[in-house]
Amino acid sequence: MSARVFLNGQWLAAGDARVSVMDRGFLFGDGVYEVIPVYSRRAFRLEQHLARLQKSLDGIQLANPYRIDEWAALVTQLAREAEWEDQSIYVQVTRGPMAVRNHAFPAEVTPTVLLLAEPMSVPSPSQREQGITAVSAADIRWLRCDLKTTSLLANCLLRQFAVSAGCAEAVLFRDGFLTEGSASSIFVVKDGVLLAPIKNHLMLPGITYDVVLELAAQHGLAHEVRDITEAETRAADELWMCSSTKEVLPIVRLDGAIVGAGGTPGPAFAWMYDWYQEFKATVMRAPT
Ligand code: PDD
Repeated sequence: MSARVFLNGQWLAAGDARVSVMDRGFLFGDGVYEVIPVYSRRAFRLEQHLARLQKSLDGIQLANPYRIDEWAALVTQLAREAEWEDQSIYVQVTRGPMAVRNHAFPAEVTPTVLLLAEPMSVPSPSQREQGITAVSAADIRWLRCDLKTTSLLANCLLRQFAVSAGCAEAVLFRDGFLTEGSASSIFVVKDGVLLAPIKNHLMLPGITYDVVLELAAQHGLAHEVRDITEAETRAADELWMCSSTKEVLPIVRLDGAIVGAGGTPGPAFAWMYDWYQEFKATVMRAPT
């Protein structure tokens, strides 16, 4: 049985869903997206993901085709009907098809709206227990990295650079400062303090980033949100990546060099991992 997707107001078998070759998402990457984790069929931080979707739409001057409650109903329906208990729900809105190829927006826009579910692939126990490796790279992306747009070529090239080097992620630096990963937020732990880069136009305001900082505050882990230099990143006691699909993962090698003392996940990671799982469980138990 083919999974069902939602495309432009219709629920269809994935194999029957079609988008025009003149769609601006296809020709220009002119669209925005969200990836929403679902645990036990409940969307995690749905409100925050939908608020960020709105910000991304505002950022590219595309009217939101649905109200927030309508989005929530679509995501909830998909989460209920998809075949997996734990999922990652992909939501995409593009500026839709155009009559002739033209960079400027069409006078009348009919956005293309897509929702689909995939099975959640959480990190393996060995990735959590032994950590992952990363390479560094210059952040070659544009200056609106705060928008979650489908124009992801630079992110794809950067992730492939990491994968070709046998690593899981590329840690990005711009002008000597840490920004984020190719598809994740990055944290540094130094002398018992969790350091997070400041949310600005150079990085995506991560939903998981917020959860990690909230958990640090709640459990009394010292933390600072500030500019982090490349040198500080390389001298970290611990380095973490986090995202909606990876949750939090320890990076134990950067460019081949051991992170911290042992080249193994550090104590702060172990705490954060437990806090994160506990928090997820609490959210999943809460009445709807
Ligand atoms: N990406 N930074 C970038 C560039 C990202 O692509 C992502 C996530 C994050 C983490 O954001 P969040 O915690 O809200 O997932 C940070 C998703 C998972 C993706 O593109 O598949």
